[in-house]
Amino acid sequence: MNWRRVLITGAAAAVAMTPAGAVGAHAAAPRPAPNCLVTKCVALSFDDGPSRYTPQLLGTLEARHAVATFFLIGPHALAYRQDVLREYRDGDAIGDHTVHHPDLTKISSARVSYEINTAAQQIASITGHRPTMLRPPYGAWNARVRSLAGKAGLSVIMWNVDPQDWKYHNTPLIERRVLAAVRPGAIIEMHDTYATTPPAIPQILTTLKARGYSLVTLPQLFAKTGGMKPGVVYHHGP
Ligand code: NI
Repeated sequence: MNWRRVLITGAAAAVAMTPAGAVGAHAAAPRPAPNCLVTKCVALSFDDGPSRYTPQLLGTLEARHAVATFFLIGPHALAYRQDVLREYRDGDAIGDHTVHHPDLTKISSARVSYEINTAAQQIASITGHRPTMLRPPYGAWNARVRSLAGKAGLSVIMWNVDPQDWKYHNTPLIERRVLAAVRPGAIIEMHDTYATTPPAIPQILTTLKARGYSLVTLPQLFAKTGGMKPGVVYHHGP
C-alpha cells in the first residue's frame, strides 16, 4: 500500500470536512516515501503534545519538508486542535498517548481500555481517523497492556534513541545526544512540550540529511516490512 497516497487522500478529506480550519494549508508535499529496506531511515517522534511549543516545531518540519510522528494526549489534542490538524495535513503520523498519562501497567484493565480508547476517540474527533499506534506513557507496558492495545486496534510503539529531553532542558545537549545515538531504523523519542526541544530539530535534521538519512513517519518506517500490527510492540525499524 502506498501510505503517502493514503495520507494525502485522508488529508484532503479532512480539509473538506473542516472548512473552518485554514491553518496548515501548507499541506503535505506529494513526495514518495522512501523504501526503508534500501534507504537509511529514521523516525522522529514527539510525545505529550500538542503544546504552545508545537507550532515552532511544525514550522521547522514544514520548512525542511520533513515528517514526524506525534503521540498525543487526548485532552491536549482537544485544546490544540488546529495544531493537530496542521500535523495531519502536513503528512505527519498521529498516535495515542492516553488521556491522563498513567503508567498503564499499574491500573486496572478497564482503566487501561478507557485511557486508550477515549484518547483515540478524542483524536479521531479532530482528524476523522482513529489512531492505530499507542505510545504507552513512560514506555511502561506488559503482556496485559499489549493485549488490550491489540483489542483497541493499536500497535505499541517504543523507541531506541532517547535524549531525555524531559530531563535535560539544554538544546545543544539534546542535539548531541540524538546524533550520537542515531542509527538506521532508529525511533527517536522526544517531547514537543519543552521550550528547549524544538530549537534542537533544525541541527538534527541538517546533520541527519548530511549523513544520508531519510526522515519518515512510523507507518512509513514499517511500510516495507509488513506494516505495524495491533498488539505488537516495536522498538525500531529496519
Ligand atoms: Ni509521555
